[in-house]
Amino acid sequence: MWTPRIWMCCMLLETFMHGVRGLNMCMGGSATSCEECLLIHPSCAWCAQEDFGRGRTLTSRCDFSQNLQKRGCESQFIEFPSSSTSVLKNVPLSSKGSGPTQYDVTQIMPQKISLSLRPGDQTWFEVQVRQVEDYPVDLYYLMDLSLSMKDDLDTIRNLGTKLAQEMGKLTSNFRLGFGSFVDKNMSPFSYTAPKYQENPCNGYKLFPNCVPSFGFRHILSLTDKVDRFNEEVQKQMVSRNRDAPEGGFDAILQASVCKERIGWRKEAYHLLVFATDDVPHLALDGKLGGLVQPHDGRCHLDGNNEYSASTMMDYPSLALLGEKLAENNIYLIFAVTKRLYVIYKNFTALIPGTTVEILDQDSKNIIQLIINAYNNIRSKVELTVWDHPEDISLSFTATCQDGQPLPGLRKCADLKIGDTVSFNVSVEARSCPPRGTDQSFTIKPVGFKDRLEVAVDYRCDCSCSRTARANSSICSSIGTYNCGTCRCEPGYLGARCECQEGETSSMYLSACREAEGKQVCSGRGECSCNQCLCYESEFGKIYGSFCECDDFSCARHKGILCSGHGECHCGECKCHAGYIGDNCNCSTETSPCISDDGQMCSGRGSCVCGRCQCTEPGAFGDTCEKCPTCPDACGTKRECIECRLFNSGRLADNQTCQRLCKDEIITVETLKTDDPGAVLCLYKTDNDCVMKFTYSEHANGQSVLTALQEPECGGGPDAMMVLLAVVGSILLVGIVLLAAWKLVITIHDRREFARFQSARSRARYEMASNPLYKHPISTHAVETDFNMYGKSYNGGVH
Ligand SMILES: *[C@@H]1O[C@H](CO)[C@@H](O)[C@H](O)[C@H]1NC(C)=O
Ligand SMILES: *[C@@H]1O[C@H](CO)[C@@H](O)[C@H](O)[C@H]1NC(C)=O
Ligand SMILES: *[C@@H]1O[C@H](CO)[C@@H](O)[C@H](O)[C@H]1NC(C)=O
Ligand SMILES: *[C@@H]1O[C@H](CO)[C@@H](O)[C@H](O)[C@H]1NC(C)=O
Ligand SMILES: *[C@@H]1O[C@H](CO)[C@@H](O)[C@H](O)[C@H]1NC(C)=O
Repeated sequence: MWTPRIWMCCMLLETFMHGVRGLNMCMGGSATSCEECLLIHPSCAWCAQEDFGRGRTLTSRCDFSQNLQKRGCESQFIEFPSSSTSVLKNVPLSSKGSGPTQYDVTQIMPQKISLSLRPGDQTWFEVQVRQVEDYPVDLYYLMDLSLSMKDDLDTIRNLGTKLAQEMGKLTSNFRLGFGSFVDKNMSPFSYTAPKYQENPCNGYKLFPNCVPSFGFRHILSLTDKVDRFNEEVQKQMVSRNRDAPEGGFDAILQASVCKERIGWRKEAYHLLVFATDDVPHLALDGKLGGLVQPHDGRCHLDGNNEYSASTMMDYPSLALLGEKLAENNIYLIFAVTKRLYVIYKNFTALIPGTTVEILDQDSKNIIQLIINAYNNIRSKVELTVWDHPEDISLSFTATCQDGQPLPGLRKCADLKIGDTVSFNVSVEARSCPPRGTDQSFTIKPVGFKDRLEVAVDYRCDCSCSRTARANSSICSSIGTYNCGTCRCEPGYLGARCECQEGETSSMYLSACREAEGKQVCSGRGECSCNQCLCYESEFGKIYGSFCECDDFSCARHKGILCSGHGECHCGECKCHAGYIGDNCNCSTETSPCISDDGQMCSGRGSCVCGRCQCTEPGAFGDTCEKCPTCPDACGTKRECIECRLFNSGRLADNQTCQRLCKDEIITVETLKTDDPGAVLCLYKTDNDCVMKFTYSEHANGQSVLTALQEPECGGGPDAMMVLLAVVGSILLVGIVLLAAWKLVITIHDRREFARFQSARSRARYEMASNPLYKHPISTHAVETDFNMYGKSYNGGVH
């Protein structure tokens, strides 16, 4: 019975035998159109040639491209699209970021590519990224101005100058900006009672004067005049809010999205330093103040550079923050006090492109902190994919500074400025999208403005489909001719629409199916006017009314169909005479099992399929003739020693000695008997000498007999010695017997005596307790009391 599994298995076997051909899933899939064929597997091709395969037998139009060519399809008719990559823009990487001649800095290469993807066919492209030296840096310092930050404000009064000095060592193009925040100026976040309206610190003893609370105030746009920073910071005054959390996330969002007002440059790293000493308010906290409108992610700075929607919209969510930071290539550095480190560390896991550093209580370490964060950011490159289409799978292999490819990684760390890293990106489309949808996505290193734009188009269509002709004469003028096949009008059937059928098309197809649910013509032929026309196969003939039979998918042995001893007939081997078995590998011949001595498998096994299967433990060899450990091993080898060395014994002067005794015989002076693999044999010769030899099997199957040159005679025992020994042993045995007898008697006597003793003592005891017995002596006691020296004595005799 033919089944798809056997088919697959045999195709695999064919592949092993012929080397190049793969599994022919193209033909098996029974594709009826070019598009279907292309979807089966990326290695399938379609032949659109009109007269292809219309000879004596049909052949599938869907096959491997080289098979189609072999069968006469001209190459211009073969539809075989494959995935490809073409680079559209490839400006080389820059080496320096700024300098006297300002030009466009390029940190990623290439910048634009286009991919043509055939589903399932993988293609790849390479991306190089370099952190260029001396890249411009924009740093916006966003500071919490709630009351507790008062000492910090004092510390950073001269921050601008010092920071510019330090950053000057890293980049020649540095700009600094400043903004501040407190919290939404509404209840319950801030003090709103009339007496606090002008001065929320009213009545607060430690620090009686401060400014009203505000959501976010942009104070200084990014500038290279760092003195301005110092000036502005001098002017700042702290404020006071009611609850512990601050409204900093409102400020981060505004600082990110108000690009023009803040002055972020396109060609620069964007660092946003967020200094605070308390936790932030999060999305939904606004509901406490009655703010139900979620944040819209837009810039809302008014003419005074203040956040105008502070009391209209809720705090932004972490997701929105992350999105806006990434969109504007901003690295957020949380500079927070030690107490808050864990909380903000958790935020960094949720907002990509953020780091957290510990700020001293009074911000003393702020400069070192910024430098650290900057170096940290600059030492890594991580690719992100934007607008990743769902049906395209991307896999990255990073090659970092050491040149080792790291599969599955899209990130390099510990880089030096100026290092170039490359990423190999493999792309594969999983399916065909609806016609006409072209996709695109972007690959961007985190925090870089540079990006690689990738446009994708799909190779799902066949070019021959464009020239489809309706009512074509090829299709008897009643069908559409498309890529070599006819799609017939309803009611017409056949490869050329040559049949007219009253029944519905599904009825027509079922006539070509072996059973309901099976493929039309077993997927190996075409149904034409209710008859299967089977394809020609490179492996052999396909036949049967449903193309279910063939002469090549039979059982195989060692890759040979029916072991070469039978004919394949519709899935079953018909074995030649002399062979049996599913794959005809079992010979009924027994002559190879006869051993040299004429026995079947040397009498130590049975003959199965023309080969001995040795049953005697330790027996081996083609006819089980070898067996050092068999009980009769010494016996058979003895005959060989006799006839070969001494020309005596049963086989002497007999041709059979030459035939049976092919073993190598080594003669030695003294025989070593400590070899565990050798069996020691000895036998007595006619003249009462002892012949010794060992028998061993070598790894190469050769058996070796190592024998003494001569039998050991001479050393026979002396008659006198024998006599003495015999007499001595008799005497010894006698003495031993006597001693034993004596011992037994002694033990017996002792036991008897002991028994007598105990009987006697029992007799005496019994007499003592006899009720009739009266002791002859009786004693009487006289009580006497007398005083002497004031002491009383009690005495008595019993
Ligand atoms: C931070 O996250 C860890 C693990 O997710 C959690 O165990 C810990 O409680 C979080 N800490 C804070 C302060 O939220
Ligand atoms: C990129 O990866 C693909 C397979 O994933 C491989 O065939 C190709 O050779 C690689 N290219 C380079 C330049 O290493
Ligand atoms: C094809 O033939 C059918 C009827 O035979 C007709 O209705 C149809 O318009 C024709 N189509 C074309 C494109 O000629
Ligand atoms: C015959 O083929 C079967 C199945 O492949 C295998 O198990 C068996 O060992 C083969 N017999 C011989 C004698 O090769
Ligand atoms: C040789 O030995 C075999 C037995 O091993 C015996 O059958 C045969 O008759 C002998 N032939 C001669 C010539 O002695």
